Amino acid sequence: MRRFLILAHRVPPAGTFTLNDLAGGAGRMDEVARAVSTAFTTSNDLRRDTEVTVLFVAEPPPAARKIEMVGARLRYLNPDERSTAALLKNALVRSIAFPAEFESSPGLRVSASEPVGELGAFLARPGTVWLTEGGSPFDALSPNPNDFGAVVSDPYDPTEAEVAQLRTSGVPAVSVGPRSLRTSQVIDLVHNVLDRREVENGRDPSPS
Ligand SMILES: C[S@@+](CC[C@H](N)C(=O)[O-])C[C@H]1O[C@@H](n2cnc3c(N)ncnc32)[C@H](O)[C@@H]1O
Repeated sequence: MRRFLILAHRVPPAGTFTLNDLAGGAGRMDEVARAVSTAFTTSNDLRRDTEVTVLFVAEPPPAARKIEMVGARLRYLNPDERSTAALLKNALVRSIAFPAEFESSPGLRVSASEPVGELGAFLARPGTVWLTEGGSPFDALSPNPNDFGAVVSDPYDPTEAEVAQLRTSGVPAVSVGPRSLRTSQVIDLVHNVLDRREVENGRDPSPS
């Protein structure tokens, strides 16, 4: 399984934004949606071996929210960022009145979130890394494509508190290259490394 946790720092957790202003009032939901779409979609298929968690941390609990998507069950995810943003917004809006976890659409669960605990639990799983510009080379890590997790931030850097938590967790800080890239680009590069490793290990990744 490939797991990604995306830290969404400014998207309103109640979904109070318009799809016509994803890059502005929606707190860069355009980039979050693009990252989600990139994590799951290939040319003609979905990566069913992938799970994505988005932590919406623009407001503290009880307003903070978590959306978890499971590739094996996911439906209604299209490659474009607007419809992906709509899928996520719909879950956030429905969650206002119902903070307990529920499935908003097939393969997509939403709930109120305690971000420090959520991030800590994600970091505690084996095979997890922190994707950051200042990390050591990802290629050199020999990641296991079948048991891999990565924390990645949206267009805004992790907060000081998040950085402290990431550092003290002891997970490797890794970089995919010398440039600061968009979140979706980083996810694409990670998938590529893992896809090639699967082929080296004798597994055809095409059915995903
Ligand atoms: C657009 S970047 C963050 C913004 C950037 N630090 C800035 O303000 O110019 C989004 C996220 O992608 C990840 N990222 C970007 N470039 C990376 C790289 N070369 N290696 C690993 N992760 C990277 C980090 O998690 C980063 O926080």
